[in-house]
Amino acid sequence: MFDVLIKNANLPDGRTGVDVGIRGSRIAAIETGLSAGSTVEAGEIIDATGRLLSTAFVDPHFHMDATLSLGLPRMNLSGTLLEGIALWGELRPTLTREALIERALSYCDLAVAQGLLFIRSHVDTSDPRLVTAEAMLEVRERVKPYIDLQLVAFPQDGYFRAPEGVKSLTRALDMGIDVVGGIPHFERTMEAGTASVRALCELAAERGLPVDMHCDETDDPMSRHIETLAAETIRLGLQGRVAGSHLTSMHSMDNYYVSKLIPLMAEAKINVIPNPLINIMLQGRHDSYPKRRGMTRVRELMAAGLNVSFGHDCVMDPWYSMGSADMLEVGHMAIHVAQMAGVKDKTQIFEALTVNSARTLGLEGYGLDKGCQADLVLLQARDPAEALRLKATRLMVMRRGRIIARTAPRISRLFLQGRPDSVDPASDIRPGSRPDPA
Ligand code: FE2
Repeated sequence: MFDVLIKNANLPDGRTGVDVGIRGSRIAAIETGLSAGSTVEAGEIIDATGRLLSTAFVDPHFHMDATLSLGLPRMNLSGTLLEGIALWGELRPTLTREALIERALSYCDLAVAQGLLFIRSHVDTSDPRLVTAEAMLEVRERVKPYIDLQLVAFPQDGYFRAPEGVKSLTRALDMGIDVVGGIPHFERTMEAGTASVRALCELAAERGLPVDMHCDETDDPMSRHIETLAAETIRLGLQGRVAGSHLTSMHSMDNYYVSKLIPLMAEAKINVIPNPLINIMLQGRHDSYPKRRGMTRVRELMAAGLNVSFGHDCVMDPWYSMGSADMLEVGHMAIHVAQMAGVKDKTQIFEALTVNSARTLGLEGYGLDKGCQADLVLLQARDPAEALRLKATRLMVMRRGRIIARTAPRISRLFLQGRPDSVDPASDIRPGSRPDPA
């Protein structure tokens, strides 16, 4: 007897016609033909009708303290990263705990609707009031029943550069923030950046915490803090627990240097977190033409065995006026910017939004196996490639075995002579027989 039985689902690994039995909060059975036996009973039966059933989405890089603040106190007129940072600096002294919590909770509502149930958010610790940390810690508790929220102590104005940067970050960790952040390329000098990487990795090692740094988010090919981050990871025995976010300078680096750097990163088991929406929007701003794309070397890093996961980074804040908590939109942009449109590429991109991100966050019980947590999303698409192409509707979202969101399928009514009276973009539009180029 299952509490819920989802029958006839397609899975991201290519299996079709699979039934998933859920008991309590976990997957009790996942196999083909489970529902064929007349003895199978379930409290609720959901017919997936050949749609894609996936583990819930995971966003490994977000800014929950800034989200939905677009327009406060004014708009980013140049649309640049630096004006965004300056604008955030203007807004920060006026932030209140209540408003921060309200905006974050609204964002989490949207995230649930989009099947996004795991988020790692950076929290700015530059203002010694630490109202951001206080508010996000409360949000972490309030959303716990439906979202796992990990918090990173993030010295936006520089660990050494901000007047009380060191003290504030330490206090935020004392308050219960989960991960040590950093922003070495924003320190005053390269040397200060290097020193910040060392100090922050040591702090993480002392406290037994993971590290996730905004690292080399610049077009400057000489911004090479990722090298120090990898070396420090190895020196301190932090392999697998350290993430390098953005790493956009790698796009501009000399190939010879990168041929040495990527193996070093692999040795350190660095988790790589590009943010395709923000990267394509904010990088290359000093270029005329040709203009760089500014996203890190996704294909090469994946090929070297590094764990690559994509972040949304921002939604409607001083840096990015777009976004809708849709990790498929993030993947959609990744396909374009990384030029990964092959059949295997799209599978890898989908994994980067789910299983790879789960590994970055160190999530336990995440997966589509017997015994895993039933944190699932049913998509209006037949496979990962179609889900990415359509940014598919999330028909059903499940958290620990309980349905927490439903959305009606996107089906348009047509009023045309001699044509069907409706069109479902995921069922009625069939590609030709030739697959995408591999
Ligand atoms: Fe970020």
